[in-house]
Amino acid sequence: MPLLKVDGVTSGYGDMEVLRDVSLAVEAGEIVSIIGPNGAGKSTVMKVVFGQLRPWQGKVELDGRDISRLPPYEIVTLGMCYVPQVANIFTDLTVEENLELGAFALAGREVAERKARIYELFPRLKERARQEAGKMSGGERQMLAMGSALMLDPRLLLLDEPSAGLAPKMVDVIFERIIRVNQTGVAILMVEQNARESLKMAHRGYVMANGQNRVEGPGPALADDPDVARLYLGG
Ligand SMILES: Nc1ncnc2c1ncn2[C@@H]1O[C@H](COP(=O)(O)OP(=O)(O)O)[C@@H](O)[C@H]1O
Ligand SMILES: [Mg+2]
Repeated sequence: MPLLKVDGVTSGYGDMEVLRDVSLAVEAGEIVSIIGPNGAGKSTVMKVVFGQLRPWQGKVELDGRDISRLPPYEIVTLGMCYVPQVANIFTDLTVEENLELGAFALAGREVAERKARIYELFPRLKERARQEAGKMSGGERQMLAMGSALMLDPRLLLLDEPSAGLAPKMVDVIFERIIRVNQTGVAILMVEQNARESLKMAHRGYVMANGQNRVEGPGPALADDPDVARLYLGG
């Protein structure tokens, strides 16, 4: 049984259908990358998985349990956390305060333990603990957004465009951190514009276009697939 299963989901906004019969799975411990052109419906898939948007048809299962009707605050307690594409940190608060808010549901001692783990993964955040989050660089903000999501010790982390707006060198740093997070046992479902790079680091990938998943396979194989390149990677 996969950790996460999206099974034949159709959904959208108002009466506008955006996703049509989307199916995908994430096994425990995997990195899975969803790529596809702007407007393909990648972020919408994330919102359905995290309970921000209801499936019109189909369902979302976590450990075989139907979570399609659960609100995000309950889904979080089942071991899934989400870093949205925008507005993913509190810019007026310090780094440390952001992390503590990420752990709203934990007891004090646990918060300290989790914080120590996050600072191990992201030493940069430790150096910047008392810094106002809004004054940090794009890469540091992304690390903080991931760190806050990891405070609740999820088994599955959803990342929507973690490299958006970052300089190429910082993209490499963020991807390397994602791999390290994954090596601690956290499964990752990520959406990326940086398609080729994100497929290379993924165990499996899905290519979406026009609200449907069109191609799937091992990440590196998709990255090297000439048809995928021609149709979806612009080259
Ligand atoms: N909140 C919303 N209300 C209405 N339409 C939306 C909303 N968010 C996204 N859409 C539309 O849904 C489609 C898919 O968007 P999205 O899932 O954000 O694509 P992607 O993340 O692949 O770029 C687009 O046509 C977009 O305009
Ligand atoms: Mg998006």
